[in-house]
Amino acid sequence: MPTPEDSSTLYGELLESARRLSFDLRDTESGVELDCHGMTPEWSPLYGTPTWTRMTESEQMRLTRREVSHFLGVAIWLEVALQIVLLRRNHSADPTRADVKFLFNECADENLHSLMFVGAIEQLGERHSPLDRLLVFIGWLFRTFAWDEVAYGIVLAGEEIFDVMQRDWSIDDRVAIAVRRSSQVHVVEESRHMTFARQKMRDRLRNVSRVRRHVSAVLIAVGAHVIAKGLINKGIYRDLGIDWRSAKYEIDRNEHHRMMFRRATAPLVEFLDREGLLNPVARTVYRKSNLL
Ligand SMILES: [Fe+2]
Ligand SMILES: [Fe+2]
Repeated sequence: MPTPEDSSTLYGELLESARRLSFDLRDTESGVELDCHGMTPEWSPLYGTPTWTRMTESEQMRLTRREVSHFLGVAIWLEVALQIVLLRRNHSADPTRADVKFLFNECADENLHSLMFVGAIEQLGERHSPLDRLLVFIGWLFRTFAWDEVAYGIVLAGEEIFDVMQRDWSIDDRVAIAVRRSSQVHVVEESRHMTFARQKMRDRLRNVSRVRRHVSAVLIAVGAHVIAKGLINKGIYRDLGIDWRSAKYEIDRNEHHRMMFRRATAPLVEFLDREGLLNPVARTVYRKSNLL
Protein backbone atom coordinates (compact mmCIF):
# COMPACT_ATOMS: atom_id res chain seq x y z
CA MET A 1 0.00 0.00 0.00
CA PRO A 2 1.48 3.44 -0.94
CA THR A 3 2.53 5.72 1.94
CA PRO A 4 1.90 9.51 2.10
CA GLU A 5 5.59 9.93 1.09
CA ASP A 6 4.94 7.85 -2.07
CA SER A 7 1.97 10.08 -2.89
CA SER A 8 4.07 13.18 -2.40
CA THR A 9 6.69 11.83 -4.83
CA LEU A 10 3.95 11.10 -7.37
CA TYR A 11 2.53 14.64 -7.07
CA GLY A 12 6.05 16.04 -7.59
CA GLU A 13 6.45 13.90 -10.73
CA LEU A 14 3.08 15.09 -12.06
CA LEU A 15 4.14 18.69 -11.55
CA GLU A 16 7.39 18.01 -13.39
CA SER A 17 5.45 16.42 -16.26
CA ALA A 18 3.26 19.55 -16.38
CA ARG A 19 6.39 21.69 -16.72
CA ARG A 20 7.60 19.61 -19.63
CA LEU A 21 4.35 18.97 -21.45
CA SER A 22 1.76 21.77 -21.42
CA PHE A 23 0.02 23.60 -24.24
CA ASP A 24 -1.74 26.89 -24.82
CA LEU A 25 -4.10 27.07 -27.81
CA ARG A 26 -5.49 30.54 -27.10
CA ASP A 27 -3.89 32.12 -30.15
CA THR A 28 -4.74 29.31 -32.58
CA GLU A 29 -7.28 30.54 -35.14
CA SER A 30 -8.48 28.22 -37.87
CA GLY A 31 -11.52 30.30 -38.91
CA VAL A 32 -15.14 29.18 -38.76
CA GLU A 33 -15.59 25.62 -40.07
CA LEU A 34 -19.04 24.67 -41.25
CA ASP A 35 -18.49 21.79 -43.68
CA CYS A 36 -17.50 19.17 -41.11
CA HIS A 37 -18.71 17.31 -38.05
CA GLY A 38 -18.35 18.84 -34.59
CA MET A 39 -17.39 15.47 -33.14
CA THR A 40 -17.12 11.87 -34.23
CA PRO A 41 -20.71 11.31 -35.42
CA GLU A 42 -20.89 7.93 -33.65
CA TRP A 43 -20.86 9.90 -30.35
CA SER A 44 -24.12 11.67 -31.21
CA PRO A 45 -26.85 10.31 -28.90
CA LEU A 46 -29.10 10.20 -31.98
CA TYR A 47 -26.61 8.29 -34.17
CA GLY A 48 -28.29 5.45 -36.04
CA THR A 49 -31.85 6.33 -34.95
CA PRO A 50 -34.68 6.95 -37.46
CA THR A 51 -34.28 10.72 -36.92
CA TRP A 52 -30.55 10.45 -37.74
CA THR A 53 -31.16 8.33 -40.83
CA ARG A 54 -33.73 10.79 -42.20
CA MET A 55 -31.21 13.67 -42.04
CA THR A 56 -28.99 14.75 -44.90
CA GLU A 57 -25.24 14.64 -44.26
CA SER A 58 -25.08 18.40 -43.80
CA GLU A 59 -27.93 18.24 -41.25
CA GLN A 60 -26.03 15.53 -39.38
CA MET A 61 -22.94 17.77 -39.37
CA ARG A 62 -25.01 20.67 -38.06
CA LEU A 63 -26.35 18.40 -35.31
CA THR A 64 -22.94 17.15 -34.16
CA ARG A 65 -21.57 20.72 -34.18
CA ARG A 66 -24.42 21.82 -31.95
CA GLU A 67 -24.11 18.75 -29.72
CA VAL A 68 -20.35 19.05 -29.24
CA SER A 69 -20.71 22.74 -28.39
CA HIS A 70 -23.02 21.68 -25.59
CA PHE A 71 -20.68 18.85 -24.51
CA LEU A 72 -17.83 21.38 -24.31
CA GLY A 73 -20.10 23.72 -22.34
CA VAL A 74 -20.62 20.91 -19.82
CA ALA A 75 -16.84 20.33 -19.74
CA ILE A 76 -16.29 24.02 -18.91
CA TRP A 77 -18.99 23.81 -16.22
CA LEU A 78 -17.13 20.88 -14.67
CA GLU A 79 -13.74 22.58 -14.90
CA VAL A 80 -15.04 25.65 -13.09
CA ALA A 81 -16.87 23.58 -10.46
CA LEU A 82 -13.81 21.50 -9.66
CA GLN A 83 -11.73 24.62 -9.10
CA ILE A 84 -14.30 26.13 -6.75
CA VAL A 85 -14.63 22.99 -4.66
CA LEU A 86 -10.95 22.03 -4.55
CA LEU A 87 -9.55 25.55 -4.04
CA ARG A 88 -12.06 26.13 -1.27
CA ARG A 89 -10.98 22.94 0.47
CA ASN A 90 -7.31 23.93 0.17
CA HIS A 91 -7.63 27.63 0.90
CA SER A 92 -5.66 27.45 4.17
CA ALA A 93 -3.45 24.48 3.26
CA ASP A 94 0.33 24.71 3.13
CA PRO A 95 0.97 26.02 -0.43
CA THR A 96 4.43 24.40 -0.53
CA ARG A 97 2.91 20.90 -0.26
CA ALA A 98 3.41 18.92 -3.48
CA ASP A 99 -0.31 18.15 -3.85
CA VAL A 100 -1.33 21.80 -3.33
CA LYS A 101 1.24 22.95 -5.89
CA PHE A 102 -0.11 20.41 -8.35
CA LEU A 103 -3.64 21.60 -7.67
CA PHE A 104 -2.61 25.18 -8.53
CA ASN A 105 -1.13 23.84 -11.79
CA GLU A 106 -4.30 21.84 -12.49
CA CYS A 107 -6.43 24.97 -12.02
CA ALA A 108 -4.16 26.86 -14.44
CA ASP A 109 -4.63 23.99 -16.96
CA GLU A 110 -8.41 24.02 -16.46
CA ASN A 111 -8.73 27.75 -17.11
CA LEU A 112 -6.78 27.38 -20.35
CA HIS A 113 -8.96 24.38 -21.27
CA SER A 114 -12.11 26.45 -20.73
CA LEU A 115 -10.74 29.21 -23.00
CA MET A 116 -9.65 26.59 -25.55
CA PHE A 117 -13.17 25.08 -25.58
CA VAL A 118 -14.79 28.50 -25.93
CA GLY A 119 -12.49 29.04 -28.93
CA ALA A 120 -13.60 25.69 -30.41
CA ILE A 121 -17.29 26.57 -29.94
CA GLU A 122 -16.74 29.89 -31.71
CA GLN A 123 -14.81 28.26 -34.55
CA LEU A 124 -17.73 25.87 -35.06
CA GLY A 125 -19.90 28.97 -35.55
CA GLU A 126 -21.90 27.88 -32.50
CA ARG A 127 -22.95 29.39 -29.19
CA HIS A 128 -23.35 28.25 -25.61
CA SER A 129 -26.57 26.39 -24.80
CA PRO A 130 -28.11 27.22 -21.41
CA LEU A 131 -27.72 24.26 -19.02
CA ASP A 132 -30.73 22.46 -17.55
CA ARG A 133 -31.89 23.99 -14.27
CA LEU A 134 -31.40 20.66 -12.50
CA LEU A 135 -27.77 20.55 -13.60
CA VAL A 136 -27.22 24.09 -12.30
CA PHE A 137 -28.77 23.13 -8.94
CA ILE A 138 -26.71 19.93 -8.65
CA GLY A 139 -23.63 22.02 -9.51
CA TRP A 140 -24.40 24.26 -6.53
CA LEU A 141 -24.79 21.23 -4.21
CA PHE A 142 -21.50 19.83 -5.51
CA ARG A 143 -19.58 23.11 -5.13
CA THR A 144 -20.95 23.70 -1.66
CA PHE A 145 -21.02 20.31 0.02
CA ALA A 146 -18.83 17.73 -1.75
CA TRP A 147 -16.06 16.38 0.49
CA ASP A 148 -12.65 15.15 -0.65
CA GLU A 149 -13.21 11.75 -2.24
CA VAL A 150 -16.66 12.72 -3.54
CA ALA A 151 -15.27 15.88 -5.15
CA TYR A 152 -12.33 14.02 -6.72
CA GLY A 153 -14.59 11.10 -7.70
CA ILE A 154 -17.10 13.26 -9.56
CA VAL A 155 -14.33 15.28 -11.18
CA LEU A 156 -12.70 12.00 -12.24
CA ALA A 157 -16.01 10.75 -13.68
CA GLY A 158 -16.23 13.81 -15.93
CA GLU A 159 -12.56 13.58 -16.90
CA GLU A 160 -12.77 9.86 -17.75
CA ILE A 161 -15.90 10.28 -19.89
CA PHE A 162 -14.35 13.15 -21.86
CA ASP A 163 -11.06 11.29 -22.17
CA VAL A 164 -12.66 8.36 -24.01
CA MET A 165 -14.75 10.61 -26.29
CA GLN A 166 -11.93 13.03 -27.06
CA ARG A 167 -9.48 10.26 -27.95
CA ASP A 168 -11.88 9.46 -30.83
CA TRP A 169 -12.47 13.11 -31.80
CA SER A 170 -8.74 13.90 -31.79
CA ILE A 171 -7.92 11.51 -34.63
CA ASP A 172 -11.10 11.74 -36.72
CA ASP A 173 -10.64 13.75 -39.92
CA ARG A 174 -14.40 14.18 -40.29
CA VAL A 175 -14.21 16.44 -37.21
CA ALA A 176 -13.52 20.22 -37.17
CA ILE A 177 -9.83 21.09 -36.72
CA ALA A 178 -10.54 23.20 -33.61
CA VAL A 179 -12.18 20.23 -31.89
CA ARG A 180 -9.47 17.81 -33.01
CA ARG A 181 -6.66 20.06 -31.72
CA SER A 182 -8.34 20.91 -28.42
CA SER A 183 -9.08 17.20 -27.87
CA GLN A 184 -5.42 16.29 -28.44
CA VAL A 185 -4.29 18.84 -25.84
CA HIS A 186 -7.01 17.88 -23.40
CA VAL A 187 -6.26 14.15 -23.55
CA VAL A 188 -2.57 14.77 -22.77
CA GLU A 189 -3.10 17.25 -19.93
CA GLU A 190 -6.05 15.46 -18.37
CA SER A 191 -4.13 12.22 -18.01
CA ARG A 192 -2.15 14.00 -15.24
CA HIS A 193 -5.34 15.25 -13.61
CA MET A 194 -6.82 11.75 -13.62
CA THR A 195 -3.69 10.26 -12.04
CA PHE A 196 -3.87 13.00 -9.40
CA ALA A 197 -7.59 12.46 -8.68
CA ARG A 198 -7.15 8.67 -8.42
CA GLN A 199 -4.24 9.03 -5.98
CA LYS A 200 -6.09 11.67 -3.92
CA MET A 201 -9.05 9.31 -3.63
CA ARG A 202 -6.82 6.42 -2.53
CA ASP A 203 -5.13 8.64 0.06
CA ARG A 204 -8.41 9.94 1.39
CA LEU A 205 -10.12 6.55 1.56
CA ARG A 206 -7.24 4.86 3.35
CA ASN A 207 -8.80 4.65 6.81
CA VAL A 208 -12.41 5.72 6.35
CA SER A 209 -15.38 3.86 7.83
CA ARG A 210 -17.48 1.49 5.74
CA VAL A 211 -20.46 3.83 6.09
CA ARG A 212 -18.54 6.79 4.70
CA ARG A 213 -17.15 4.68 1.84
CA HIS A 214 -20.68 3.52 1.05
CA VAL A 215 -22.17 7.04 1.06
CA SER A 216 -19.27 8.44 -0.99
CA ALA A 217 -19.61 5.63 -3.56
CA VAL A 218 -23.32 6.38 -4.03
CA LEU A 219 -22.74 10.14 -4.36
CA ILE A 220 -20.00 9.60 -6.95
CA ALA A 221 -22.42 7.39 -8.91
CA VAL A 222 -25.10 10.09 -8.73
CA GLY A 223 -22.52 12.65 -9.93
CA ALA A 224 -21.55 10.46 -12.90
CA HIS A 225 -25.25 9.97 -13.71
CA VAL A 226 -25.89 13.74 -13.64
CA ILE A 227 -22.91 14.41 -15.94
CA ALA A 228 -23.98 11.73 -18.46
CA LYS A 229 -27.59 12.93 -18.47
CA GLY A 230 -26.49 16.58 -18.58
CA LEU A 231 -24.81 15.96 -21.94
CA ILE A 232 -28.25 15.52 -23.49
CA ASN A 233 -29.98 18.87 -23.58
CA LYS A 234 -33.48 19.29 -25.00
CA GLY A 235 -32.78 22.93 -25.96
CA ILE A 236 -30.28 21.96 -28.65
CA TYR A 237 -32.69 19.55 -30.36
CA ARG A 238 -35.52 22.08 -30.24
CA ASP A 239 -33.22 24.76 -31.72
CA LEU A 240 -32.58 22.46 -34.67
CA GLY A 241 -36.31 21.86 -35.22
CA ILE A 242 -36.14 18.26 -33.94
CA ASP A 243 -39.18 17.22 -31.91
CA TRP A 244 -37.78 16.69 -28.40
CA ARG A 245 -40.28 14.02 -27.37
CA SER A 246 -39.49 11.76 -30.26
CA ALA A 247 -35.75 12.50 -30.00
CA LYS A 248 -35.82 11.54 -26.30
CA TYR A 249 -37.80 8.40 -27.10
CA GLU A 250 -35.25 7.37 -29.71
CA ILE A 251 -32.21 8.25 -27.56
CA ASP A 252 -33.60 6.25 -24.61
CA ARG A 253 -33.91 3.19 -26.85
CA ASN A 254 -30.71 3.70 -28.83
CA GLU A 255 -28.56 0.65 -28.10
CA HIS A 256 -25.63 2.22 -29.98
CA HIS A 257 -25.73 5.30 -27.69
CA ARG A 258 -25.82 3.06 -24.60
CA MET A 259 -22.88 1.08 -25.85
CA MET A 260 -20.83 4.27 -26.47
CA PHE A 261 -21.58 5.65 -23.01
CA ARG A 262 -20.76 2.33 -21.36
CA ARG A 263 -17.46 2.46 -23.24
CA ALA A 264 -16.92 6.03 -21.98
CA THR A 265 -17.32 5.00 -18.35
CA ALA A 266 -15.60 1.59 -18.48
CA PRO A 267 -12.20 2.89 -17.16
CA LEU A 268 -13.96 4.78 -14.36
CA VAL A 269 -16.06 1.78 -13.35
CA GLU A 270 -12.97 -0.43 -13.33
CA PHE A 271 -11.15 1.99 -11.01
CA LEU A 272 -14.13 2.37 -8.67
CA ASP A 273 -14.52 -1.38 -8.47
CA ARG A 274 -10.85 -1.78 -7.53
CA GLU A 275 -11.17 0.86 -4.81
CA GLY A 276 -14.31 -0.63 -3.26
CA LEU A 277 -16.56 2.16 -4.56
CA LEU A 278 -18.99 0.03 -6.52
CA ASN A 279 -21.50 -1.15 -3.94
CA PRO A 280 -24.96 -2.49 -4.95
CA VAL A 281 -26.67 0.92 -4.67
CA ALA A 282 -23.98 2.59 -6.80
CA ARG A 283 -24.23 -0.24 -9.33
CA THR A 284 -28.00 0.35 -9.60
CA VAL A 285 -27.40 4.05 -10.30
CA TYR A 286 -24.80 3.26 -13.00
CA ARG A 287 -27.18 0.72 -14.56
CA LYS A 288 -30.09 3.17 -14.53
CA SER A 289 -27.98 5.71 -16.39
CA ASN A 290 -26.76 3.03 -18.84
CA LEU A 291 -23.19 3.45 -17.65
CA LEU A 292 -22.85 -0.19 -16.62
FE1 LIG B 1 -9.83 20.13 -18.49
FE1 LIG C 1 -9.01 18.18 -15.46
